[in-house]
Amino acid sequence: MVVWSPFRFNSGREMANRFAIAPLTTDSSHDDGTATEDELEFVRRRAASGFGATISSATYVEQDGRSWQGTGATHDGHLSSLRRLAEAMRAAGGLAILQIYDGGRIAKPELIGEQCLRAPSAVASLRPGAKTPRAMTTDEIGNLIASFRDAASLARRAGFDGVEVHGANHYAVHQFFSPRANHRVDHWGGTLSRRMNFPLAVAQAVRDALGPKLIAGFRVTPFEAEPDGYTLEDAKLLCHELARLDIDYISVSLDDYRKSRPMRETRVYDGPVEESNAPAESPITEFARVIAGRCAVMASGGIKTCMDAEAAIKMGADLVAVGRAVVVDPEWLSKVRSKSEASILAGLPKDEREIANDLSIPPRMVEYLLSRPGWIPRL
Ligand SMILES: Cc1cc2nc3c(=O)[nH]c(=O)nc-3n(C[C@H](O)[C@H](O)[C@H](O)COP(=O)(O)O)c2cc1C
Repeated sequence: MVVWSPFRFNSGREMANRFAIAPLTTDSSHDDGTATEDELEFVRRRAASGFGATISSATYVEQDGRSWQGTGATHDGHLSSLRRLAEAMRAAGGLAILQIYDGGRIAKPELIGEQCLRAPSAVASLRPGAKTPRAMTTDEIGNLIASFRDAASLARRAGFDGVEVHGANHYAVHQFFSPRANHRVDHWGGTLSRRMNFPLAVAQAVRDALGPKLIAGFRVTPFEAEPDGYTLEDAKLLCHELARLDIDYISVSLDDYRKSRPMRETRVYDGPVEESNAPAESPITEFARVIAGRCAVMASGGIKTCMDAEAAIKMGADLVAVGRAVVVDPEWLSKVRSKSEASILAGLPKDEREIANDLSIPPRMVEYLLSRPGWIPRL
């Protein structure tokens, strides 16, 4: 089966199989952005089951862009924590990829202070209670691109095999691409091609910092369901441009790989689908067509079985990223590999202490997971 075959990236690095652990924020790091022992254990135990690669939780590149209590990559003081993270991610010899992000208008005011909230434009997100950010100056935009570059350099020095830019799920890179969030009329906004300038500048800066031999990935939300959001055609154009920058892979962020449905900013994961907005074909297939083999395509969302992974690959993906299934069952991949899928845990136990102790999930992450009913299945 294709899923168990190795995959070689443009940069030359190789994954032993097609399975990656999706980026999973634990919301559990120390206040200074260093990793805690229990979040390292969360990663180590899951990576140990033999994933070809592990992608880290989103790691902040600027203090004022923090959306959770996560890991940081902003200065040399983060290096030893990043090294330990990379080691934990390599528990079974798989590749270690650091995901880097900035929260922009959905940074957490409680963490950064409401007055520090900055974004492409002074437009609040649709999330309940969202605060209005201030519009970034041209200098601040240049500095943010430099922060992504510097974070990628730290990742290289810490021994990661690569870096993934979090360009999806409504964070800052996504905000620059979105006509809903970006109302600028300068180099960074106003037309589709100018809205691409920030994501492309970040991707180029990361590639430059990594050099040609490390993996540069980019995560994209394929389209926005909300009125006046960017379309699948817009995102395909962005992928086309990204593929020209020697990117190794583009990761398609969906909540379910089968549904052709984007992450909704309202966070109503099981809300009604606006079918009229849904494209006829999967965004995975559409992206694969436009990328045309220039880099890899990674699919994610609702991959729970080996058949799901094979199906996503048939749609045009080269790789799959698995999230909630490995949160719920740390030994998910070993069970899939040994064809013991019937023994895969189907949901989190009722008892919260059991969740933390038996499944090696940091207590703060348990709180985070349970704060959104329906997000993660319960037994
Ligand atoms: C607890 C949790 C934390 C997440 N954190 C991140 C993150 O840091 N970066 C990111 O790109 N996606 C994040 N996601 C989204 C997942 O990577 C994945 O795309 C999503 O859960 C859908 O895949 P799944 O159905 O396999 O879980 C997170 C998801 C969960 C459940």
